[in-house]
Amino acid sequence: MKIHVINGPNLNILGKREPEIYGKSTFKDYFTELQFQFKDVELSYFQSNIEGELISELQEADDNVDGIILNAAAYTHTSIAIGDAIKAIATPVIEVHISNTHAREDFRKHSYVSPNAFGIIIGFGLRSYELAIRSFLD
Ligand code: DQA
Repeated sequence: MKIHVINGPNLNILGKREPEIYGKSTFKDYFTELQFQFKDVELSYFQSNIEGELISELQEADDNVDGIILNAAAYTHTSIAIGDAIKAIATPVIEVHISNTHAREDFRKHSYVSPNAFGIIIGFGLRSYELAIRSFLD
């Protein structure tokens, strides 16, 4: 099984970004752990701070992988274009968030990703990604 992880803005600085909310681990370190944990899964990873690049990546991943795990970060709450891109592709997308967005500011409660997502995993720290992989495997 091929699973592609797509991370949005500011997730390249995990580890030093608000560690009390997002934890102290870098995503690179966590991703290496995931690859070790799921040896039978072909995991790939892309991160961008740029909205259009995330859309292009969703389009390119379509039909090349079995599932996409998307943390669109702040674009979750603003990007109609990312919502449309998910609607336009056939590959199932699991929306993940590290923090519990519903326990934070009101503007984080709305997601343009959720209506088009296959499923949503929110608030389990970096473990949200592991749970998303397990969901695809199930
Ligand atoms: C986030 C939550 C978003 O509201 C925020 O803008 C992020 C990270 C999360 O994983 O908890 O950048 O997507």
